[in-house]
Amino acid sequence: MSERQERASASKKPATGDTVPVAPPCAMVIFGAGGDLTKRLIMPALYNLVTAGRLPDGFRIVGVDHGRRTVEEWRQGLTDMMKQFVASHEGEFQADRLDQKAWQWLGERMSYVQGEFEDADAYKRIGQHLAELDKTAGTAGNYLFYLAVADRFFETVVERLGAAGLVGEQNGRWRRVVIEKPFGHDLPSAKALNASILKVLEERQIYRMDHFLGKETVQNIMALRFANGLFEPLWRREHIDHVQITAAETVGVESRGRFYEQTGALRDMVPNHVFQLLSLTVMEPPTSFDAEAVRGKKAEAIQAIRSLKPGRVERDVVRGQYGPGTVLGKPVLGYRQEPNVSPKSNIETYIAWKLQIDNWRWAGVPFYLRTGKHLKARKTQIAIRFHQAPHAMFRGTHVEKMNPNWLILRIQPDEGIALQFAAKRPGLAMTLGNVSMDFSYKSYFDAKPSTGYETLIYDCMVGDATLFQRADNIEAGWQAVQPILDYWPEHAPNDFANYAAGSDGPAAADALLTRSGRAWRPL
Ligand code: BG6
Repeated sequence: MSERQERASASKKPATGDTVPVAPPCAMVIFGAGGDLTKRLIMPALYNLVTAGRLPDGFRIVGVDHGRRTVEEWRQGLTDMMKQFVASHEGEFQADRLDQKAWQWLGERMSYVQGEFEDADAYKRIGQHLAELDKTAGTAGNYLFYLAVADRFFETVVERLGAAGLVGEQNGRWRRVVIEKPFGHDLPSAKALNASILKVLEERQIYRMDHFLGKETVQNIMALRFANGLFEPLWRREHIDHVQITAAETVGVESRGRFYEQTGALRDMVPNHVFQLLSLTVMEPPTSFDAEAVRGKKAEAIQAIRSLKPGRVERDVVRGQYGPGTVLGKPVLGYRQEPNVSPKSNIETYIAWKLQIDNWRWAGVPFYLRTGKHLKARKTQIAIRFHQAPHAMFRGTHVEKMNPNWLILRIQPDEGIALQFAAKRPGLAMTLGNVSMDFSYKSYFDAKPSTGYETLIYDCMVGDATLFQRADNIEAGWQAVQPILDYWPEHAPNDFANYAAGSDGPAAADALLTRSGRAWRPL
């Protein structure tokens, strides 16, 4: 097959989801039906699953929230939102038109139960309604409880579900609970939350969500490493100089000042999203694609992060906060001027961290992580820098400097992978140019629109927990960041705001790399 033919045949490959079986019948109960997550992500994802033909006839959605509304009002609100997404081309849901038939199919399957999340009676009503659906709608006694609610309700909802007898799995019926982030706000609270929900649920019933795992490019890290013979032999300290993991955003805290004042960039992004990228990069090859095999290796990877002694926090971790500036050509406020933010806030909107992985594969290879808001560019990527060629055989030629090889995994936007290497420039003299072999998702695959939640919701329905966080994954993440969480409040920063919105981040973050003769890749 010629390269051209290969590309053509690759472009005809079905998008993810097209080849998987239709999900089993079930009722999906969404706590927080009136909330932002339901509108922005869950409903568009369900709609995409309908258009892909992956939802069964016996599928029903039960919205639960404290707001008094009829099912018609709930449905209408969602319909308006979907239409707005289509018209504005903004948000995670991208489509040129709403397929009326598909949306109607979903709309007909919606019902709404009004109730307070604390109120035991509400759970009785939910239980009666679900039993009714089992009889009349063919939901087969399978329930997926989706907690799209503020984290302070997680324990309560799970406890009430248990008390109402809604999570028992008898006679082949399954009962599963999806829990969104944030899962705890430090190690003790994450442990307490795990302990509390594990009193009611079995670990296999809990689907702790991290939406980064819904991204194709994140899932592709495993494909790149373990489905190719080429990369894995190089994937170790003998060949890799260092790794940079970046999750840079151009957005600020927007309307989330109140949340962010309690959270900050470290809690918001690192033990969850950034550690997903890290663990998939670092993990040992699992023996199979089985959920427990994969999650076991990921947990080990995070457990291998070298524990930070208090004295090292100052040296190896940099925090930043944005001041006023210009982002993508628009003037923006500094963090301390944002709504619901204290004018003296010491909350970080940026963090960079040089960490070590203490195992045979990675000993001595620094991993540099950085994430922040209101930076120059939106860019999430993993950049792997290989060692220089060991012998400068081009001495005495026109080649002055040899550049190292980089493998760049572009998670978002412009999803793809690039391998950078040196090539001889055409001509009489021996001179080198830097070239790049580039794989772009868009040009290779004919992907369907996706919010990233489709796979995750579908996987819950079929009972595949590979892309969800087990209790030990979550606790390992908090364990690794806990020394920073302990150190910072005791040592107030004296240089905030230390980066202008729209810049590359604080200058101190550069020093993390320059002291060992390295530099961040440009944003
Ligand atoms: C969320 C954080 O979990 O992830 C946000 O709370 C952040 O602050 C977001 O902006 C980033 O996700 P994505 O998919 O937009 O990169």
